[in-house]
Amino acid sequence: MSGLADFQNSIYLQGLGDVTPSLPTDLTKLEERAERALSAQAFGYVAGSAGSEATARANRAAFDRHRIVPRMLRDVAERDLSVNVFGTAMPSPVLLGPIGVLSIMHPDGELAVARAAAAEGVPMVLSTAASYDMEAVAEANGDGPRWYQLYWPKDRELAASFLGRAKAAGYTALVVTLDTFTMAWRPRDLDQGYLPFLRGIGVANYFGDPVFQRAVGGPVTDANRETALLHWIANFGNPSLTWDDLVFLRENWDGPIALKGIQHPDDARRAVDAGMDGVIVSNHGGRQVDGAIASLDALPGVVEAVGDRATVLFDSGVRTGADAVKALALGARAVLLARPYAYGLALGGQAGVQHVLRCFQAEMELTMALAGISRPEQIGREILAGH
Ligand code: GLV
Repeated sequence: MSGLADFQNSIYLQGLGDVTPSLPTDLTKLEERAERALSAQAFGYVAGSAGSEATARANRAAFDRHRIVPRMLRDVAERDLSVNVFGTAMPSPVLLGPIGVLSIMHPDGELAVARAAAAEGVPMVLSTAASYDMEAVAEANGDGPRWYQLYWPKDRELAASFLGRAKAAGYTALVVTLDTFTMAWRPRDLDQGYLPFLRGIGVANYFGDPVFQRAVGGPVTDANRETALLHWIANFGNPSLTWDDLVFLRENWDGPIALKGIQHPDDARRAVDAGMDGVIVSNHGGRQVDGAIASLDALPGVVEAVGDRATVLFDSGVRTGADAVKALALGARAVLLARPYAYGLALGGQAGVQHVLRCFQAEMELTMALAGISRPEQIGREILAGH
């Protein structure tokens, strides 16, 4: 028995003593609660997407279009949601997706997320744009499973330094985000003239890096802060990268590598041909290309292109345990959950993130069981209507 669904009974038992959850158990409701609790700038940065936000809406609409068909009398008494991806054991097919600048959600930012993830045994994918450096987050994460997400900077030496530090700090797999070599047109941020990095938030991994410091004349102080920010702007992304550059990743990272931001089957094929271990089907939660294909609609084509040659993970628009079941039905091996945990963090710090993880996993287990499924490997397209 996986036990993730036991969270449901513990809530009802607490209810006997008139204790009710302090945060909503419908995770789609967290956003409006967070909006009331946060500054307009902080909320806008996390909730916002590119342009008219059509891609973000499409991500959600795609989940709504797919419907699960429950099956009966299948003995689902014994359930086990655990999976192993890239050598990382996890209690269910969910990881915390990379989100940077989390100190705008809560002062403890990624440290609180790392503690919550470790407490629940759920892997965390740490963003290069985190507000605490990767060594501090690793310490907060302790023995918890963790992966590192790279924003591939222009300076090769800096990129190599990030990878070396991540390895030394116990991050076991590498996620390379390809879709954000520059920030997209994001009206919520533009209207407020707000980009956290330019205010020194989300740059900890850069400012603390020896290669970065050498380039800006030493540790970052008030004296060279402007130089450091300009160097960050100049180096954050590299629009000239091509498929040939992936060799660099292999030369500098000896563990599993997944490319994040893949939406086209041909790009997925190229990733596999280049020796990547996985792809993450993602449109960055709708934050990069307005009017783009819903990430869930891109998933089946990528799964077909990749076959069993690599691992396909899914990201963008995931809000509930039922969403995870749908993404798995369309071929994902696991999903990345993102904005909901940022809102949980904003509303309740570490405990808020744990609440989100418990709700998400309990709902996933219950949805599976009620659809006649005991293990993630049993989820296939046939559980969806029309397949
Ligand atoms: C990139 O870091 C983003 O804000 O989506």
